[in-house]
Amino acid sequence: MASEISNQFCAILDFGSQYSQLIARRVRENRVYCEILPCTTTAEDLKALGVQGVILSGGPCGVYDDDAPTFDAAILELDCPVLGICYGMQVACQASGGQVTPSQEREYGDTTIFLNEPDNPIFHGCDGRMQVWMSHGDRVNEISSEMVPIAHTENTPLAAVYDPNHQFWGLQFHPEVTHTRDEGKILNNFLYRICRFSGDWEIQNYVSRAIEEIREKVGTDKVICALSGGVDSSVVAMLIHKAIGDQLTCFFIDNGVLRQGEAEQVCEVFGNQFGLDFRFIDASDRFLERLSGVTDPEEKRKKIGHQFIEEFREAAKKFKGARFLAQGTLYPDVIESVSPFEGPSATIKSHHNVGGLPDDLDFELIEPLRFLFKDEARVIGKEVGLPDEIIQRQPFPGPGLGIRIVGEVTRDRLEILRAADAIVQEELRGWSRFRDIWQGFAVLLPVRSVGVQGDQRTYDCTAALRIVESTDGMTANWMLPPQEVLARISNRICNEVQGINRVVLDISSKPPSTIEWE
Ligand code: XMP
Repeated sequence: MASEISNQFCAILDFGSQYSQLIARRVRENRVYCEILPCTTTAEDLKALGVQGVILSGGPCGVYDDDAPTFDAAILELDCPVLGICYGMQVACQASGGQVTPSQEREYGDTTIFLNEPDNPIFHGCDGRMQVWMSHGDRVNEISSEMVPIAHTENTPLAAVYDPNHQFWGLQFHPEVTHTRDEGKILNNFLYRICRFSGDWEIQNYVSRAIEEIREKVGTDKVICALSGGVDSSVVAMLIHKAIGDQLTCFFIDNGVLRQGEAEQVCEVFGNQFGLDFRFIDASDRFLERLSGVTDPEEKRKKIGHQFIEEFREAAKKFKGARFLAQGTLYPDVIESVSPFEGPSATIKSHHNVGGLPDDLDFELIEPLRFLFKDEARVIGKEVGLPDEIIQRQPFPGPGLGIRIVGEVTRDRLEILRAADAIVQEELRGWSRFRDIWQGFAVLLPVRSVGVQGDQRTYDCTAALRIVESTDGMTANWMLPPQEVLARISNRICNEVQGINRVVLDISSKPPSTIEWE
């Protein structure tokens, strides 16, 4: 929990905003440790945690809705500053005697605010006139006598308020989004000028603490970890290996729908290079048999998922003595499965990350990354010595190439896609924007077309190139590599991969398209 991770702690009380995670990201970017807690967290709880600052998030409700979330107003009496953002400002203003006007119309988008009190520490270094991002329906239209307005817009006299007696700042706009053009100053001012955080959150320090905690928890017992070769499970395996050495056994299940060289790379890194107790399970025949004749994408996912559980059960039987199961659950997995009313500890689905393992597996969980974001997990990966190819790996779906072959998954078609995809990977690596790619890969289409190679007429398949940028996979934009890169990919695939005679580029964003084709 927080106090074991950092000596200083900022709490974000979540009223259900789509931006709560973003606030947490921004606070951590400011080197301040924070956690998202349910809005029902009491002042007593916060005091016990030793919070040095509290942020009340926005939320989708109006304060007058029947099920509108409230908060413990005693939080405003705590001896620590509180920042209310949007809904957070409204509930706090209402609790301290102000009034919020319900409104049918939302104010949404870029708005200019004018500072009435440019000297207020929250606005230190900001322009007197600033573009901000608004997204609200209700608005505060009356404040308690202890509060003062510190910024307004043309339509809203109370765009920001300040209550010196309660160390409360309220913002009707969202300082956490980049559309608010304060260059991050407002949150930084709150954390440093107002809460007086010292900025001690260094992800590197987390490693030694995590190792100590793992040792303490595990004692002399044994731990198993299903490695996928992805960033999260790899970092977890290395961290636990550093803590308890050979008390950890990792296994890797080859499901037959991996990319070229993937299984070999994982064996090489974890088995040979780092010398983990590492077991390779070749289950490819069993997976491919199960996929035989299946063309429906969801059916493929289900079959692969079920087979994975069977394989996992079989593997787990072999490690009877193990008490713990290590998982690479990340903080977004934790907070995404949480309701603002109950909080992470109440509803977390701990198997979220391993693709739906059943609850009856008799292990206790170890999830050393469950308070971290992906980029923080990558820093830890670097700290524990993982190679860049693993740390910077693009996300790869559990059902693997199975959902990148449109139509039936056969050994032949897998071979064709593997070869084409390997060329895509290799050539994209040479593009200066390689690091900006969220996912870049080849898809094998069941569309055959006529081609000519040498003097021969061909009638072969089509490969589609899918290259997107994204921050979280929820939305994505297609990317356009330079013509030379595209030309090399296309020429090489058509010349080197038997079975493909045409390459097309997918220029669809998400939404409306998904990143994967199936
Ligand atoms: P879509 O295709 O929904 O993908 O835009 C969004 C992100 O999720 C990944 N993805 C999956 N990951 N199992 C997974 O583990 C799946 O069934 C699955 N489907 C999509 C996809 O690669 C992208 O990063």
